[in-house]
Amino acid sequence: MSADTNKQENLMPQTVKGVVAKAVGEPVTIENIVIPDPGPGEAVVEIQACGVCHTDLHYREGGINDEFPFLLGHEASGLVESVGDGVTDVVPGDFVILNWRAVCGQCRSCLRGKPQICFATHNAEQKMTLEDGTVLSPALGIGAFAEKTLVAAGQCTKVDPSASPAAAGLLGCGVMAGIGAAINTGGVGRGDSVAVFGCGGVGDAAIAGSKLAGASIIIAVDLDDQKLEWAKGFGATHTINSKNEDAVEKIRELTGGNGVDVAIDAIGLPEVYKQCFEARDLAGTVVLVGVPHPDMVLELPFIEVFGRGGALKSSWYGDCLPSRDFPMLIDLYQQGRLDLDGFVSETIGLGDVEEAFHKMERGEVLRSVVEM
Ligand SMILES: NC(=O)c1ccc[n+]([C@@H]2O[C@H](COP(=O)([O-])OP(=O)(O)OC[C@H]3O[C@@H](n4cnc5c(N)ncnc54)[C@H](O)[C@@H]3O)[C@@H](O)[C@H]2O)c1
Ligand SMILES: [Zn+2]
Ligand SMILES: [Zn+2]
Repeated sequence: MSADTNKQENLMPQTVKGVVAKAVGEPVTIENIVIPDPGPGEAVVEIQACGVCHTDLHYREGGINDEFPFLLGHEASGLVESVGDGVTDVVPGDFVILNWRAVCGQCRSCLRGKPQICFATHNAEQKMTLEDGTVLSPALGIGAFAEKTLVAAGQCTKVDPSASPAAAGLLGCGVMAGIGAAINTGGVGRGDSVAVFGCGGVGDAAIAGSKLAGASIIIAVDLDDQKLEWAKGFGATHTINSKNEDAVEKIRELTGGNGVDVAIDAIGLPEVYKQCFEARDLAGTVVLVGVPHPDMVLELPFIEVFGRGGALKSSWYGDCLPSRDFPMLIDLYQQGRLDLDGFVSETIGLGDVEEAFHKMERGEVLRSVVEM
């Protein structure tokens, strides 16, 4: 099919419901959102499901930037409704997972053959607005706690349409970030020992990823016993409640006095990062996938940074390449080798996002998923 025949004629801007954060710390509200017709290189997607990620809460708390109002939601799947000129990779009706890494192919990273860390990713050029014309900032360039959203067509990754929308959407952010933090950034491989600090959706995905990669020891660390119990279900071989035990000491004990090959901070706190740093074997790798607050400062003994060797790495989106990784992980899910359904603690409506934030803070859920 040519690009022109894909294009839907006679479109009109549409008004749909979406979840908006208007000011720091204020409860989110449902608003009418105006979605423009897709322009060149853009697509409008009818959202089917969207998970509640801690990053949405970071936006609401002013921890990402000040560009309120935000249209929240970014772990989503849905059906392409319409596409603009020049879009050839997806057509209306395609089942897609939305990604926040539509690679440019031309930046210095892409040109060096590393599109998975593209420095100039695309979002839609046109803006979604409130009915009074106020421009919205879509979370991670997606904004999918909404009946429909406007994205760059490259943000739509086609996957097997028989996958459950709630489970598939989670690959769009937290689950991909966690799996990729372990496999892509941490380079976890067969026989490795791994410690994962923070067993929310991201941490448990790092545990599942470590298991997929063949790690032999996978130690889950959290402050919450329920979270540790769930972590076992994803492949943790040992658990540590760091409220009651010294995690670093215990990790050394579990690894013959050495520490782990890969330690993953899936929370984003300086004190947790330090624990990862110390719980790691010589020449081991620390991976930071949790997002710190802009005010936080990290202090480490500099001689130890040198003396312990190895690598201190940050993991943006699990260093994933959506076109490579989403269809592959959906295949593993369909074969029963990756339990994406296990991340879906509950399905909720658009009006329940604020309450889902509180459940997340109270540690009651891995992922609440909004279903349209
Ligand atoms: N790097 C990326 O691309 C990327 C992508 C998605 C999410 N994230 C970030 O990952 C982090 C985790 O997200 P999530 O959705 O899994 O969050 P979550 O709130 O569901 O999970 C966090 C977990 O950490 C535990 N925890 C909190 N403080 C702790 C401490 N001091 N010691 C041990 N455990 C502690 C909590 O009990 C909870 O189980 C967030 O910062 C989020 O913004 C990063
Ligand atoms: Zn690029
Ligand atoms: Zn996220």
